[in-house]
Amino acid sequence: MFGPRLRRLSLLIALGTAPGLEAGEVEVLHWWTSGGEAQAAARLRERVEAEGHRWREFAVAGGGGEGAMTVLKSRALSGNPPSAAQLKGPEIQEWGELGLLGELDAVAEAQDWDALLPPRVAARMRHDGHYVAVPMNIHRINWLWGNPEVLAAAGVAMPTSLDELFAAGEALRAAGVVPLAHGGQPWQDATLFETVVLAEAGADFYRRALVALDPQALGSDTMIQALTTFRRLRGLMDEGVPGRDWHLASAMVIEGEAAMQLMGDWVKGEFAAAGLVAGEDYLCAPAPGTEGAFGFTIDSLAMFRVAEAEDLAAQRDLARLALSPQVQVAFNRAKGSIPARRDLAVAAFDACARLAIDDFQAAEAGDALVPSLAHGMALGGEAQRAWMDIVSRYFNDPTISPEEAARRLVSLAHALP
Ligand code: GAL
Repeated sequence: MFGPRLRRLSLLIALGTAPGLEAGEVEVLHWWTSGGEAQAAARLRERVEAEGHRWREFAVAGGGGEGAMTVLKSRALSGNPPSAAQLKGPEIQEWGELGLLGELDAVAEAQDWDALLPPRVAARMRHDGHYVAVPMNIHRINWLWGNPEVLAAAGVAMPTSLDELFAAGEALRAAGVVPLAHGGQPWQDATLFETVVLAEAGADFYRRALVALDPQALGSDTMIQALTTFRRLRGLMDEGVPGRDWHLASAMVIEGEAAMQLMGDWVKGEFAAAGLVAGEDYLCAPAPGTEGAFGFTIDSLAMFRVAEAEDLAAQRDLARLALSPQVQVAFNRAKGSIPARRDLAVAAFDACARLAIDDFQAAEAGDALVPSLAHGMALGGEAQRAWMDIVSRYFNDPTISPEEAARRLVSLAHALP
C-alpha cells in the first residue's frame, strides 16, 4: 500500500528520528581498518545512524590510503563516486578542480567553522572559497613510541636526539630486542624519512625540500646527510620489515618484541584499543631531534556531489556530526589524534594527546608546523607517489647511494610542472 520511502519515513517517525526530511544514505570511503582506526570510524558511524541515516561502509584496507585512492578513482571514472571520501590537502583541490565536490557552506556557517577551526586547517577544507570537506582531526607524524619495560630492562630512556637513538639501539640489541619496529611499505618508509629530515635539518629546510621541492635543497649536503641517517636506521630494525603493516609493527612494541616505533599517532589508537594507558603502559615523545616541530596531516571527509535530496541531507548531517564536540572527542580518543576544533576541554584526552595539543599550538606560534608529504598534505597525488617510490627504493636497496637518491629527487622536482 505504501511506497518504500513512505514506509521508511513512518518507521523513522516511530523511532523518533528524522524531524523534517527523510533519512538518506551516506557511503563513506576510508582506510580505517586497523583495530584503533575501526573503533574511531565506528564513533562517527553510530552518530550518523542515530539520526536515522544509513551508513554504507566503503573501507579499503591499506595504510596511508594508496589503495583507497585507487579505488576512488575507478569509482569516480565510472560516474559513481561515494558521497564522502577521506581525502587530504592538495588532493581535495584536485578533486575540486574536476568539479566533483559538493559544498558544505550552509553547515559551515551554522556551526561557525571559520571560528571553530585553526585558520590553516580551515583553508585546506575549502575549494574555490567554498567548504567542501570536514576535518576529523589533526594527526602528528613526528612521534616516538616506546615500551617502558623493554627500555628499562636495557637501561635506556626514551632518546631525545638521533645520537641517543642509535646509542639506545646498541643497548637494546645487546638486550636481545628489536630496537625499532617498522613496516617496509613505501608510505611507512617515506613517513620515517620525513621525520629524519625534520630531525636533521629543521622546519625551514623541510619546507624547502619536501613542500617546495627546491632542487637546490634536494641536492644539498644536508639532504645527503638525511638520506645517510635514514639508511642507518635500517640497522635498528629486524628482518621481517618488508611488507609488514604498520599496526603489526605497533603490536611488536605492545608485546615487547620491539622497544620503539617512529610513526604518526594512529599508533596510539592501537595502544588504546589494546587497553593500554598513555605514560604508563607506553611512552610517547617527539621523534628524537624534532622537539618543537610538528609534522601534521588532517583526516578529512570530502563530499562528492549527490543527486537525491535525502542523500544530500544525510551528507550535511554527516559533516555537522563529524565536527560535533561529541564525535570530535570520541573519534580522536580512539584514533590517537587531536581534535580539529580548538574549543574542547583537553581533560578528555590522554597525556600524549595533551602534549600534542600543546605542541601544535607552540609550533603554530613558532612557525614550526610542517605538512606531511607521506600523508598527503604537501604534494599532489602523482608527485607524492613518485617521491615515496624513490625514497623507499633507496631505503631497501643498499646499492643505491645517498647521492644517487638525492639526484633522483632533484630529477623528480625538475620533471614536475
Ligand atoms: C594516514 C591517515 C591516518 C591513518 C594512517 C595509517 O594517512 O591520516 O588516519 O589511517 O594513514 O593508515
